[in-house]
Amino acid sequence: MEMYKKLCTQFYDIDKPMPPKSFFSFYMKYISKKAEPILEPMCGSGRFLIPILEKNFDIDGVDASSDMIDACKSKMSIKGLSTNLYKQFLDELDLPRQYGLVFIPEGSLGLIIEEALLLNSLKKIYKHMVSGGRFLTELETPYAKPKEIGKVTATFRERSDGSKIVLSRFCDSYNENKKVSTSINKYELFKNGELIETELEEFKVRYFDIDEFRNILKGIGFKDIKVFRLYERVQPSTDEPGVIFECRKP
Ligand SMILES: C[S@@+](CC[C@H](N)C(=O)[O-])C[C@H]1O[C@@H](n2cnc3c(N)ncnc32)[C@H](O)[C@@H]1O
Repeated sequence: MEMYKKLCTQFYDIDKPMPPKSFFSFYMKYISKKAEPILEPMCGSGRFLIPILEKNFDIDGVDASSDMIDACKSKMSIKGLSTNLYKQFLDELDLPRQYGLVFIPEGSLGLIIEEALLLNSLKKIYKHMVSGGRFLTELETPYAKPKEIGKVTATFRERSDGSKIVLSRFCDSYNENKKVSTSINKYELFKNGELIETELEEFKVRYFDIDEFRNILKGIGFKDIKVFRLYERVQPSTDEPGVIFECRKP
């Protein structure tokens, strides 16, 4: 896993400690005792999973990054919470339970670039769902593609010990055919002005046309496919930068 390593995880947790209210309340409309057990693939450090666990729902998490999973475990243990957290790639998902609700917030599925891996990931999700179960996933469309190709942007976040993580993002390219953007991210940890650690990641995102992804879901076997504008159960406009798909396993 060449993404979401140690400094990236620390930066992510300082930057995004909680899900924005509108995102969280959208997903909470689907979360109920009837939908249990619930699975959040690509759960990261538990930004969604932990508050759902705190509300006493039966939710498991999966993520391919050891650093993200470790961060999730340590936040859970501070709060006295526990659940099943699995370190697995989605295309190799192999869990002991089947789920009534599987949801992937914040466009994370777009991090799986290769078509074969994406199809295998969706097939594995389907296999791990009960009949009648719901799958929700958020995706970015080409209207969200990066506009600043060839530019470097930099920002920093301060850790609780006063040290700083500086993120420099070089937006390298956007492939119009594959609808994939590539950035090079550099995380640098500075303590008292001294560079302590550097971490590099190649960060690729795949963007989907609405009909393209609807057909992918159909091909897997999902039914009752609906598409919503972000965080509202209303039809998206044609130029929406992000959408949410809802579907069912028959
Ligand atoms: C943007 S983070 C989102 C985390 C969490 N859902 C949130 O909103 O805070 C994306 C997560 O997807 C995970 N990930 C990326 N590719 C993956 C794959 N193929 N299988 C499983 N997890 C993956 C990364 O490790 C990372 O933790």
